[in-house]
Amino acid sequence: MAAPARFPPHGVLLSEGDVREERRAFHEEVLQTPRPVHGLASTVIRVAEEECAALLAPYADGRGPVAELDWAAFDRAWWRIVRRIVLGDAARDDLVLAEQLRRLRAAANRPLSHRLSGPRRRALRDAFLRRLGGYLERAPAGSLAGIARRVPVSARTDPAGQLPHWLFAYDAAGMTTLRALALLAAHPGQAALAHGEAVPRGGGPRELPLLRAAALETLRLFPTTPLLLRESTAGTVWHGERVPPGTVFLLYAPYLHRAGPGAAYGDVFAPAHWTGGAAPGDPALVPFGAGPAGCPGENLVLLTVSCVLAALLRGHSHRLTSHPALNPLLPVPAALDPFALRFRVTPHADAGR
Ligand code: HEM
Repeated sequence: MAAPARFPPHGVLLSEGDVREERRAFHEEVLQTPRPVHGLASTVIRVAEEECAALLAPYADGRGPVAELDWAAFDRAWWRIVRRIVLGDAARDDLVLAEQLRRLRAAANRPLSHRLSGPRRRALRDAFLRRLGGYLERAPAGSLAGIARRVPVSARTDPAGQLPHWLFAYDAAGMTTLRALALLAAHPGQAALAHGEAVPRGGGPRELPLLRAAALETLRLFPTTPLLLRESTAGTVWHGERVPPGTVFLLYAPYLHRAGPGAAYGDVFAPAHWTGGAAPGDPALVPFGAGPAGCPGENLVLLTVSCVLAALLRGHSHRLTSHPALNPLLPVPAALDPFALRFRVTPHADAGR
């Protein structure tokens, strides 16, 4: 995906030197990088519950033939959740913003010959950033933009220029959520454990270790960033060959996660690798990258995905009806198209609790 290299132009990904350090620190501060349960957890839970209840209402009365839950319906609910977390409730239905972001990303991904002309792209970008700036000015405290507004920064950090990354990076988390739901649906033992964890308990926001592990295991099997790039800063020796500084290394996550170094984990869906197993400290497993450029949103992503999975599972069972069917006795396939997934939703035994 080329988009982050061209849009947003002031994003941390494109920044170098001192400015990069400042922008990186800003992301870590707002995304609360080291915290498994972000300060916005109660917002994340509330928004996930409200949007998933609205999403599932038409499917789950259990009477007669019902339409199936598919990507299109899930995606609408997902982006409402994301806009509310990132910008606040007022952005829930802002489809203009969504369309502007979609067009900017599509334009950045297209080959040069098909890209929007410079002036048209700039006009679209300015309109998008103006709209985003408006949300930033009015952002409620319980949103990422609201936290961003209160972080003291120098002008060159450009908070509004960092916000687009948070919006579009949530794309990969949506795909991961629906893939995780499919894997759980195909593994009844794991689904039973997940249902148990999804049952609400009193008290404040808490980590959901099994659902978090299901999300990580889904990302191990289907990494949404398959290629990681690194440039060496010093001379090194690689498999007996001298490699000069400035050499570009390309890491292919699907190989690392399932074959070669990750062969022990294999082609099975086993979230337990992440709860009691060796996966958390294993340098071969890099769904969120690693090191000083590693994803600063990892914990927030895992919190969001686990809360949305809990809200989807609570009171509902999901049977995967799309093809390919996932058979727990067979290896998990190399790819799983999230846009083709479909589920039959019925009430679950925990519905009355
Ligand atoms: C399933 C969801 C996501 C996955 C798998 C993911 C994965 C990644 C990966 C692999 C990188 C590059 C790391 C490296 O080169 O070592 C990255 C960078 C980054 N991610 Fe995520 N990400 C996700 C969602 C998010 C979200 C929702 C946010 C913000 C709310 C976010 C914020 C960032 C930022 C700011 C960077 C750039 C970091 C830098 O250059 O210093 N990501 N992410």
